Amino acid sequence: MTDETNTNMVELDVEKDVWNRGYTVHSLLIIGSKEEDGNYNFAPKHMAMPLGFSNHFGFIGTPRKSTYRNIQREKVFTVSYPKPSQLTVSSLAATQREDDDSKPVLDQIPTTPAQKIDGYFVEDSYFQLECKLTECLGKFDEWELVVGEIVAGRIDKKMSRKVGNGVDEGQLIYDNPLLAYLHPNRFSVIKESNVFPFPKELKR
Ligand SMILES: Cc1cc2nc3c(=O)[nH]c(=O)nc-3n(C[C@H](O)[C@H](O)[C@H](O)COP(=O)(O)O)c2cc1C
Repeated sequence: MTDETNTNMVELDVEKDVWNRGYTVHSLLIIGSKEEDGNYNFAPKHMAMPLGFSNHFGFIGTPRKSTYRNIQREKVFTVSYPKPSQLTVSSLAATQREDDDSKPVLDQIPTTPAQKIDGYFVEDSYFQLECKLTECLGKFDEWELVVGEIVAGRIDKKMSRKVGNGVDEGQLIYDNPLLAYLHPNRFSVIKESNVFPFPKELKR
């Protein structure tokens, strides 16, 4: 420890949005939910992640948005992980609603049905999860953690990672790049990757 001020660091104003002050890496995925009128909605989320190593998934939402209210009502939602080629679709899904609360742009997004729940995925997304709502946690100001149990799912064959099948995993990602969202305003297409240098005999 030293009491010298580190001049390489800028102090953050924690009264303001600290996440806006620099870049952080996130998955970008699309939550699917059923609207009250029977249509299906899609909305992109970057505050979203696996919860533990069993089949739970969570994302941050707010009662102000239809996605949250749809899921509270229907108790199910889908998760579609888009490929880089689906960047535009992912962004369009966040288009502002019309005065009548509709999102006509969604009609342009090709979809594919879920199998175990009442829902749809963005067609051609590479990783698809069907979730049953288990709880909404918190209040982080207006935001809440929406938690689902994954009851079914599938992955694009080309991107399926099976330990021991002889596939070079670096090549797998190179041939099927991943989309990263760099909050607050950039994205990246990941082709290059390396094996993580885990400590010897790592235990979770
Ligand atoms: C790149 C990107 C990331 C977003 N991440 C989130 C998020 O993590 N949580 C959230 O509630 N909204 C997020 N949004 C905003 C919502 O997805 C957006 O307001 C959505 O279209 C609301 O739709 P709805 O009214 O149909 O629920 C994000 C939007 C974009 C463009």
